[in-house]
Amino acid sequence: MTGRQRLSLFSLVLMTTITTVGFAILSRGPLRAGDADPKQKILEGMTLPEYDARGGLIRPEGYERWTFIGTSLGIRYLETNDPPPKGPGDFHHVFIQPQAYEYYLRFGEFPEKTLFVMTNCAASKKSGPDLINKHGHFAGKATGLEVSVKDTEKFSESWAYFLFTTAGERKPSRALPQNLCYDCHAEHGQADNVFTQFYGMLEQARESHLKTARP
Ligand code: HEC
Repeated sequence: MTGRQRLSLFSLVLMTTITTVGFAILSRGPLRAGDADPKQKILEGMTLPEYDARGGLIRPEGYERWTFIGTSLGIRYLETNDPPPKGPGDFHHVFIQPQAYEYYLRFGEFPEKTLFVMTNCAASKKSGPDLINKHGHFAGKATGLEVSVKDTEKFSESWAYFLFTTAGERKPSRALPQNLCYDCHAEHGQADNVFTQFYGMLEQARESHLKTARP
């Protein structure tokens, strides 16, 4: 190979490399085939709602390890003439899938297939043999679960509500009638049926998304 031939072979290789690299850079549009949608990417690995053949929700598993978003004590929702309960009432602990939580913080909305699990635990004073607590209450074992799911494919109102016991099998539960749960959530929940007003971090995220959305 003469020096001239070697030079032109070198230029050819160089040109091809530049064109390939240039094309690769230019072809990186906002989203390419094969790229995961960034919104979908956050949701990777999220526990999804499971249903039985009749559309009942199967009790979610592993919620104890989800993101814990808040607790309330002794909240009562309904106007009633009954005297208030003796003692502080029950603790409610609320959990959401970590991916749905992250999604809300980033985008200010709850993704499809969001699950909330709220445990009901009696307030307890007993602290074991040493009776260390002289005052105050802590949450005893969870006795029941209230669950909501956002699943527009399954439920025309998007959100559906379920009750479970904590004991035994993961038995499915039928969606509860709208007037029992949904209506109050739709009317009084601050964001998309959810009581974000009770969950500090979600409320903060909601407010900051509202601010940035303002023209
Ligand atoms: C009259 C109003 C009202 C009704 C009826 C109601 N809820 Fe709620 N729910 C609330 C409030 C207020 C909270 C937030 C604070 C709390 O309870 O700790 C809440 C929180 C929840 C949460 C946690 C996620 C969220 O949306 O904030 C779930 C899950 C839930 N309720 C399920 C149910 C189910 C299941 C029923 C029906 C059996 C039901 N709720 C009926 C007022 C209501």
